[in-house]
Amino acid sequence: MNVDLYERVWMWLAAGLIVIFVGTIAITTGVEAIQPPSHLETLDPETIDSHPEFGDPKVTIRPDGSVVVSVVAAMFSFAPDPIEIPAGRPVTFRITSKDVIHGFEVVGTNANALAVPGYVSEFTVTFDTPGKYTIACNEYCGIAHHMMVGTLTVK
Ligand code: CUA
Repeated sequence: MNVDLYERVWMWLAAGLIVIFVGTIAITTGVEAIQPPSHLETLDPETIDSHPEFGDPKVTIRPDGSVVVSVVAAMFSFAPDPIEIPAGRPVTFRITSKDVIHGFEVVGTNANALAVPGYVSEFTVTFDTPGKYTIACNEYCGIAHHMMVGTLTVK
């Protein structure tokens, strides 16, 4: 089969792009520890107020010194607010929603997860720089979505 030279050039360029894209995904997965959600935990958003953990969302310190923040997002705020955590220690955020899908983004960091009703999103980060951070809802959730912000204080 005779394939025109320009046709071949474009085919190889397209193939090269695919290799670059897939390679980028593979490298960032391995090196940057970027990964899809790895844990599935469900709860009933209807009875969240009597849930042992999310009925009273707060910051807790585990016996080993690690910090857990349980967060409930609801139109149009986060609980607890403000969230106060220590600097330089791993902090595990556990986030869920009471009503619709919200976002939980600590602005200027890579701490970012969806708050999905019925599910618990979990990630662990260490904040080395003390200060005040803004938590923004980055998922459209209703009329006052743009007002849905919280504060994270790192001490
Ligand atoms: Cu909550 Cu947008």
